[in-house]
Amino acid sequence: MIAPSLLSADFARLAEEARRVADADWLHFDVMDAHFVPNLTFGLPVMQAVQAVSPVPLDCHLMIEAPERWAPDYAEAGARNVTVHAEACTDPRAVARDIRAAGALAGLALKPGTPLEDHLDVLPDFDTLLVMTVEPGFGGQEFMAEVLPKVRRARELVDTGHLTVLVEVDGGINADTIEAAAAAGADVFVAGSAVYGAEDPSRAIAGLRAQAAA
Ligand code: DX5
Ligand code: ZN
Repeated sequence: MIAPSLLSADFARLAEEARRVADADWLHFDVMDAHFVPNLTFGLPVMQAVQAVSPVPLDCHLMIEAPERWAPDYAEAGARNVTVHAEACTDPRAVARDIRAAGALAGLALKPGTPLEDHLDVLPDFDTLLVMTVEPGFGGQEFMAEVLPKVRRARELVDTGHLTVLVEVDGGINADTIEAAAAAGADVFVAGSAVYGAEDPSRAIAGLRAQAAA
């Protein structure tokens, strides 16, 4: 699955930018609060506005402190998947339960330096596991190949544990890096600059999808 990140779109034309990626699987929506990460983007009212016009389901990535306060609202607003950071949650299991109760898939995100082993116990409570392949906060950063073993380990754990968890990668995914991420076992590929920076976003999506499936 390919999930273009709206972070790399033109914020003055969000509706149009959402429609430009109509052939994507999910539209990735990066919420940043200037506390959990050193950057500030958009929040719930903007998500609701985009949700109302987006041809594809929203994949909300909450890079915020105290995500339990907001995560269920994104689910209620109609997001397909709502992801919270393990580093920001005091009770990940409770957040997952609240997100699911509000009608969305629940995702757990790990920063590059956060070991998967520290969160294995809660993995079965989530539907997606977002392995960050850059430090969260900004688009257009370089893919961290050193995170690939964690993606591989996540794939193994999901397969051997027969878990229904999608493994998602986010950060620096482009034509040069997507094959390595796919070989490591990722299911969902977030791509910001590689899609919105392309002259033809549809073609970029098709190209990435073909490479991931190869
Ligand atoms: C970074 C965000 C990413 C970002 C990816 O903190 O979580 O979703 O949009 O952008 P690219 O694909 O340009 O690295
Ligand atoms: Zn993201």
